[in-house]
Amino acid sequence: MSATINRVSDQSSVRMSATAFAPATVANVATGFDILGFAIDGIGDRVTVSRSETPGVTISAIRGIINVSGIPLEAHKNTAGVPLLKMLESARPGFGFTIEIEKSIPLGSGMGGSAASAVGAVVAANALLEKPFSLEDLLGFALEGEAIASGAKHADNVAPCLYGGVTLTNPGASPRPVRLPVPANLFVSVVYPAMRLDTKVARAALSATLTLKQHIEQSARLAALVAGICTDDLELLRRGLDDVLIEPQRASLIPGFAAVKAAALAHGALGGSISGAGPSVFAFSTSESTAREISLAMQTAFKANGGLDSESWVSPIRGAGAGLV
Ligand code: HSE
Repeated sequence: MSATINRVSDQSSVRMSATAFAPATVANVATGFDILGFAIDGIGDRVTVSRSETPGVTISAIRGIINVSGIPLEAHKNTAGVPLLKMLESARPGFGFTIEIEKSIPLGSGMGGSAASAVGAVVAANALLEKPFSLEDLLGFALEGEAIASGAKHADNVAPCLYGGVTLTNPGASPRPVRLPVPANLFVSVVYPAMRLDTKVARAALSATLTLKQHIEQSARLAALVAGICTDDLELLRRGLDDVLIEPQRASLIPGFAAVKAAALAHGALGGSISGAGPSVFAFSTSESTAREISLAMQTAFKANGGLDSESWVSPIRGAGAGLV
């Protein structure tokens, strides 16, 4: 009798398919190159994973409100496929995965699109496993997908995408994420100009060496940023958003960047910089209405200084992480 009851309840808990939403993210946050990032509300990728009798990982469809041509359908080349191949290797669940991806985050926008697809895939697939992995395990799998997109293992998009809020991580294979407390009244304006900038290209623009003076100046600012976020100190935040190392080397890749940043500051931003590897630009402010004005001013500046059309989003800094829908 009890065996029958168990069998029935086991079958009812078997999930054949799950869909996850994974948010866009702003990585680097000016001075936290490769180690700091936060999630934003209002835009993200949606990934559906189903159990399949076919072993391995099959990508059945990639759709989107953005142009998705050029995203590889082969699982071992796809940022959502690679993490699930690693998951299967580790879990050996006795079935394969089929993935459907619905992309909203533009490719090469600097808003963490590859990370969102990777994180969405692992969150959805985890819901199909009898013994689900921990969040830290999922982060490790997602990182494998991010690495094929950008050519390096940095968790500054995948960690906030998975956990939400602001996260600090180690570079390399062991991200050991720390979620920072976030000031309640901090908003971000993110503006995406209509151009593609691949992370690999933006990384190739960076010098591999830096001087001791540059190291000291940048690490003082990063320390100020982290302290400012943790203590809600706007003066520290202002200082911490002044990137003297990466932004100057990448600014020329984004037409109109200097004017766009100046427009944000002129409209009340605490500071701002390139979102991730660009070309999107972000700015922080302390009210939603100011953040909207800043977005508009940045969009106007993109159009007037380089002729780029753009889209914008306003979000609290404490955006939610990925979850099942
Ligand atoms: N930290 C990375 C970079 C972010 O700036 O190259 C890429 O998403």
